[in-house]
Amino acid sequence: MKGRIPDHIVEAVLSRVNIVEVISEFIPLKRAGRNFRALCPFHQEKTPSFMVSTDKQIYHCFGCGAGGNVFNFLMQFERIEFPEAVEALAKKAGVVIPENLSFGAKEPSGITVQLQKASEAAASFYENNLSTPVGTHAREYLLKRGIPQEAIKTFKIGFAAEKWDALINHLRSKGVSLSLMEKAGLVVPKEGGGYYDRFRNRIIFPIFDVKARAIGFGARVLDTSLPKYINSPETPLYIKGKNLYGLWLSKDAIRDLDAAVVVEGYLDFISAFQAGVRNVVASSGTALTAEQARLIKRYTHNVVMVYDGDASGQIATIRALDIFVEEDMQVRVVSLPQGYDPDLFIRKNGIARFQALIADAQPLFDYKMSVLKSRYNSDDIEGKEKICSEMLPTIQKFRRPVVKSEYFKKLAQELKVKEEALLQEAGLFHAAGKEYLRATSTSLGTQKSIHPIEKFLIKLMLEEDTIIAELKDKLEPDDFQDERTAKIVALMFDCVAQGKGIEPSKLLTHLGDTESTRLLCESTFLPDISGEKRDKILTDCVQRLKAKKLSCKRQRLQEEIKDAQESGDEERLHTLIAELDELIKTR
Ligand code: CTP
Ligand code: MN
Repeated sequence: MKGRIPDHIVEAVLSRVNIVEVISEFIPLKRAGRNFRALCPFHQEKTPSFMVSTDKQIYHCFGCGAGGNVFNFLMQFERIEFPEAVEALAKKAGVVIPENLSFGAKEPSGITVQLQKASEAAASFYENNLSTPVGTHAREYLLKRGIPQEAIKTFKIGFAAEKWDALINHLRSKGVSLSLMEKAGLVVPKEGGGYYDRFRNRIIFPIFDVKARAIGFGARVLDTSLPKYINSPETPLYIKGKNLYGLWLSKDAIRDLDAAVVVEGYLDFISAFQAGVRNVVASSGTALTAEQARLIKRYTHNVVMVYDGDASGQIATIRALDIFVEEDMQVRVVSLPQGYDPDLFIRKNGIARFQALIADAQPLFDYKMSVLKSRYNSDDIEGKEKICSEMLPTIQKFRRPVVKSEYFKKLAQELKVKEEALLQEAGLFHAAGKEYLRATSTSLGTQKSIHPIEKFLIKLMLEEDTIIAELKDKLEPDDFQDERTAKIVALMFDCVAQGKGIEPSKLLTHLGDTESTRLLCESTFLPDISGEKRDKILTDCVQRLKAKKLSCKRQRLQEEIKDAQESGDEERLHTLIAELDELIKTR
């Protein structure tokens, strides 16, 4: 059973860990007054806009809007779920979590531990096979493909013999049940009962998770028969789209070099890694998923794609580009000569030339443009239209308006069309087209911005509980026009009503939605104002908020009155006018 972590445990952990200590284990923090500052680990930047507050136990990036408490940081940085983050920090803080609470889906429970053991046992069995007489052919094949003994050891390559029950018998002798073998994807049920080994007469490439635990297998034939590969089915341990082959070996190099080389095949990975390109991962043929991109993003924001030099490699590359852009990652592309994959290229031309290709990889825009120009004639109208309709969706995916507008410019130049026409194509150029162009060079996000008054009140409320109590007498949560603000205010009013003090980092655990989280974190870092000046501003803000609410209400009433007049609803008209009178009087 999955239990919810009780609030008192979450709060105990929050009170005992210090966000500054936790974050500084991952990135270097520099003191900046009462706060700490760093280069944001969640987006690319040259000047630090990532802030951590000791007082409030909150972080916020003014560049990308990331923010939250210490749990949010771990979740975002390590790509883990809330329960895992709580558990990790509970351990650190010495807070005991009751045994009967089994946590997040990712935390190994009974069955996953058993599946793990079965997979590990199978991996060792296959690995061992390769060095015995049954593995002779396989050893010869690997040798022929230029995979040395040393690599076999590093990648724990194995062999499944040409028998229907070799693994079954072995695992049974180790006490693994058939149903567990089936759940681990190692055996296949026979029609009419019984099971047989899924992988037979194939080279085995075990697939490990980042913690180097065997979770699945890829199995290749020794000749040209089909299918070339049989892979583990999806199991509770192995979800193809969430894993990258080889990451368990390359993650440190990816982090150190701050770049990942993404290839398609197991053998591409093996050749590149073995030859010294240590920051490589393989997507294992599947169309790259957003989850795989995010997995890479844990270690770096920079990607070089080196897919096979054939039509399907090109199509897969183009698709993956958009995914990386959506994840706000920098991506460049190597196009291999027709008929080559990284493995063949390295064997024929050597690792130095492969490295040179990587260093020379094309920026995404240039790559996609050259592919599109090879497909369509960019000089005729129809060609321009085609290129445009394939290029615009990619450009639209860039988060930063500045980047977006630079690419619009570039595309317009490449196609020799007017930039306005492109913006119109993109649905961005209404009457407000010029406005857009101007706005893009200043504004960051696309989100509706929150009125400074509301932001400021939130900040003051976070500072002192007495201000919350004071405002609670004067305002309702829905006096705040913005629903994100209203949500935070309602929560704070609740806390005060229950006699609880306000701690921003604890509030966050009740907020859930990211926009309110962002607002709360951002407000925390607004410049301080104190004393008389603050009181004046406070009174002024309350008045303005009230006035704003009244004027909204008035506007709404006037619209309704107009409606009632048009539809000739006398009775309604009367009530509405009475309401409006009342409203004007209170003012
Ligand atoms: N793949 C698969 N099933 C197939 C074919 C391919 O799962 N029937 C996946 C494998 O992960 C493979 C990757 O797609 O590694 C790339 O395919 P391909 O380039 O055909 O295989 P390589 O690993 O490069 O093998 P080889 O060089 O021996 O052809
Ligand atoms: Mn290949």
